[in-house]
Amino acid sequence: MLIAFACFVVTCWLACFPARQESTVQQVLQVYQSNINQLAVATDSFVFAAKTGADGKTLQALFCKARLAYKRTEWLTEYYQPYTARLINGPALAEVESEDKSVVVEPEGFQVIEELLYPGLQPGAEAELLRQAQTLRSNIGSLQTMAASLQTTDAHVFDALRLQLFRLVSLGLSGFDSPLAHNSVAEARVTIESVEQCLSIYRSSLTQVSAGFSATLNQLLAATKQYLAAHPDFDTFNRMQFTRRFANPLSESLLTAQGQLNISVFSEPRLLKPGAKNLFAEDVFNPDFYAPGAEAYASAAKRQLGERLFYDPVLSANGERSCGSCHQPGKAFSDGLKTNKALASGLALKRNTPGLLNAALQPALFYDSRVAYLEDQAKSVILNREEMHGSMDVAVQKLKRNAAYRAMFIKAYPDAEISEHAIKNALATYVRSLLALNSRFDHFMRGNNSALNATEIQGFNLFMGKAKCGTCHFAPLFNGSNPPSFTRIDAEVLGVPLTADTLHPQLDPDGGKFYAIKTALYRHAFKTPTVRNTALTAPYMHNGVFRSLEEVVAFYNRGGGKGLGLNIENQTLPEEPLNLTPSEQKAVVAFMNALTDTTSYRK
Ligand code: HEC
Ligand code: HEC
Repeated sequence: MLIAFACFVVTCWLACFPARQESTVQQVLQVYQSNINQLAVATDSFVFAAKTGADGKTLQALFCKARLAYKRTEWLTEYYQPYTARLINGPALAEVESEDKSVVVEPEGFQVIEELLYPGLQPGAEAELLRQAQTLRSNIGSLQTMAASLQTTDAHVFDALRLQLFRLVSLGLSGFDSPLAHNSVAEARVTIESVEQCLSIYRSSLTQVSAGFSATLNQLLAATKQYLAAHPDFDTFNRMQFTRRFANPLSESLLTAQGQLNISVFSEPRLLKPGAKNLFAEDVFNPDFYAPGAEAYASAAKRQLGERLFYDPVLSANGERSCGSCHQPGKAFSDGLKTNKALASGLALKRNTPGLLNAALQPALFYDSRVAYLEDQAKSVILNREEMHGSMDVAVQKLKRNAAYRAMFIKAYPDAEISEHAIKNALATYVRSLLALNSRFDHFMRGNNSALNATEIQGFNLFMGKAKCGTCHFAPLFNGSNPPSFTRIDAEVLGVPLTADTLHPQLDPDGGKFYAIKTALYRHAFKTPTVRNTALTAPYMHNGVFRSLEEVVAFYNRGGGKGLGLNIENQTLPEEPLNLTPSEQKAVVAFMNALTDTTSYRK
């Protein structure tokens, strides 16, 4: 009897793990390693061509080939080696090393090479091209080494695949990582192939569980590739149609497939929830993610208290100004002024009041990104002489004398006294509750076909393509927060002028991020804000210089400050005019107007 049972167990065990069959995860890693080896070979050819003085056309062709080879590996490279991924395919912009803020790191990788090769091989650039090509090859060597010891799980594989589709929609198709070669549609096709290649490893198990679903998924993948092959042109590519018909259903199907295979959804906390079926689905962002710790997470009682404090002038020195004086709900929590006024002097403040909807979804705050936590931001405003000129100690004493507040604090913070810490957290909790991601645009993305009109759809396609807006205002938050991890937010130099006078332009003197980090690179750099709800937040830019969205788009269409004729060494906005026609400019504005959501937050 015992022996019979033991035999039964052994047979089952063998059935579950057929002797020579490798696990799905091992197969995934083998495919990945072989793709990296192919990338190395493609890069070798490019290096060789650069060394032997090949002509521009040949170099461009080999460059595109190497990039395509990279795209096949991107989903796991970005997932497990984000640092090396940045060296290989980061923006062609110098950066400041985060540990030592005085060290400027020169860019390297595909995008630097792209600038040397497009529109044609830059005269005299041969030596630099070779040096860059060799550096790229050496970084790919590091990938090879790393890939040999990589470990993963099925849950991570599916997570990484979905993130790659999100990356495709928000970054790849906008031309973000290949701004000059404009090969983004072909690269998208390879991205889909890489997803398909990985899925094929799970194919037989999936067919066993549900042959019907497996076949539908196959068809969807084939149709996606067909669509991309049939619409190769960068400028006219219909990003909206692609996202709705293919990218969103695909990422959703990946989630379904994962469920069918009984692979649990990855559970590490993230800003974009790991269970998000696509980038535009309802409730996919976790506003507590950037809270300073678990004890700071939201509760209804904290929110209620925070809301009351937000509109109560008790926090300001003269008892006349609350957060709500400048951040007004009817204006998406901005104030409609070019800049507000300083409390005592009545002089104009330096900066325009930004809206606060979705502000909590950013890893850094203020135009110069100088603060990381909403808690610290609240304190800085309350203490600021020009803004509220308050004192936290005085506020604590005043609130302690108020019975209604005492009751609210006990409810919200049962274990603590009324304190500076609690005030800051309550205010931050209120701001974290101000999410607004249910605009008409979002409804359209979720399947409501009548939510947008043709002009607004055209506007989205321009925003994400020809007009290049989406290369800085990343979908779906449309701010500078880098998808799909959203852990860094970019600051950019646009050359925003002091006045709207285009005949006598003058650069606005505000140093921007330079005040926070003293490197010439960041002079006049400002955090890229969201354009969600921007219809309600006029006037625009850190100094409120533009009164309308039309003026903003006209500014971009000219090529920013440099396009106006200003001499700005470090402008990161391309200075070439966008050549948007008047009706195209109107469409971009119409799209931004469709990003307004006044239904999601309460007040
Ligand atoms: C006098 C007007 C004024 C008052 C009062 C005021 N703010 Fe602001 N707020 C501003 C301005 C101006 C900025 C931008 C400052 C900068 O970036 O340097 C700002 C920025 C912010 C930001 C950063 C937004 C982002 O996306 O970076 C938050 C959050 C914020 N305020 C919340 C509050 C809270 C909470 C209070 C009350 C404690 C408050 N503000 C009171 C004018 C005001
Ligand atoms: C190079 C990156 C970059 C590109 C490309 C870009 N933006 Fe911006 N955008 C920014 C930054 C940075 C700011 C903030 C500048 C400031 O405050 O001085 C901004 C501000 C804005 C604002 C003002 C928001 C507010 O509340 O004040 C709007 C509207 C806007 N951009 C729309 C667009 C549109 C439309 C396009 C495409 C035609 C576009 N942007 C392209 C980086 C960019």
